[in-house]
Amino acid sequence: MKAITIPAFGGPESLVLAEVETPRPRAGELLVRVAAAGVNRADLMQRQGRYPPPPGESDVPGLEVSGTVEALGEGVEGWSVGDEVCALLAGGGYAEYVRVPAGQVLAVPDGVSLVDAAALPEVVCTVWSNVFLTANLQPGETLLVHGGSSGIGTMAIQLAREVGAHVAVTAGSQEKLEACRGLGAEVLVNYREDDFVERLLEATDGHGADVVLDNMGAKYLSRNVSALATNGRLVIIGMQGGTKGELDIAALLAKRAAVIATSLRARPAAEKATIVAAVREHVWPLIASGRVRPVVQSRHPLADAATAHRELEASTHVGKVLLIP
Ligand SMILES: NC(=O)c1ccc[n+]([C@@H]2O[C@H](COP(=O)([O-])OP(=O)(O)OC[C@H]3O[C@@H](n4cnc5c(N)ncnc54)[C@H](OP(=O)(O)O)[C@@H]3O)[C@@H](O)[C@H]2O)c1
Repeated sequence: MKAITIPAFGGPESLVLAEVETPRPRAGELLVRVAAAGVNRADLMQRQGRYPPPPGESDVPGLEVSGTVEALGEGVEGWSVGDEVCALLAGGGYAEYVRVPAGQVLAVPDGVSLVDAAALPEVVCTVWSNVFLTANLQPGETLLVHGGSSGIGTMAIQLAREVGAHVAVTAGSQEKLEACRGLGAEVLVNYREDDFVERLLEATDGHGADVVLDNMGAKYLSRNVSALATNGRLVIIGMQGGTKGELDIAALLAKRAAVIATSLRARPAAEKATIVAAVREHVWPLIASGRVRPVVQSRHPLADAATAHRELEASTHVGKVLLIP
């Protein structure tokens, strides 16, 4: 089969379409014929040699796909050849075929095209596990989402809105902030022009954010703590602003607040299956009803994976970028 390989780490040009062996499903796995693969920020880091796949996983990048079931490994129940699915992967998605544990597979939701379903698994599982399972966002609370127009951000806004939370976002342009408003964000902060702590405290009468979903890491650590409400939860999922910051324990203690950092990719398959099951129960009905939708910016042929990576690096997108084998 054809797949994107990375013969030498580097820029987007290091993504090379090559002939590789077609994977075979192991016991408990499905083989999926890929219709589309989602491009994630993590794939850029893998390409640069800064985010290796977990041991035993494919070297081919790609953390999520949609497609049709091509074959079933031993012991798989509940799925049939030809089913239209999307799946959360530990790697291997930028390819014509990928194998995936059955617990990480979801049916394509009603109302979503087979291709666009590839925009869902990684963002929905990341947002649901962090904002709801870990940070326990409640109706009426305020969620601050950094990078509101990102793949992750566009889903976080919609799901928080659906549970009746208020949403504040940061983004780097007015156009992106308007896109966030269209999805349900109420407080819009252009981080290039305004201080998000000041703007958030102003907009919430000094209350702050009950939950912060952060992609920046070190660069925003101290300001995120300042933005937290009493009993607030800061969940760090990205390190775009570096890995080492200074934490004021006294400020955290005074607010009885929590700082948590998580990674989805490295979790054992059983934990991923638990998250996928929660997503099937709580999020899939919202998507099938049309209230929550995948936001897709662009679709590129698999051979143009470099163009897709350049697009993410330039950050001209709102939502997700997809690759089509
Ligand atoms: N831990 C996990 O399990 C996990 C899983 C999935 C994703 N993630 C992380 O979640 C983040 C989003 O992922 P993605 O794939 O959705 O990425 P993406 O679409 O490429 O989005 C990256 C975002 O970062 C924003 N950004 C850049 N500088 C910023 C700043 N100073 N303040 C606020 N926002 C800023 C960009 O917005 P502008 O263009 O407006 O600057 C852009 O929207 C990434 O950091 C990724 O690594 C983590």
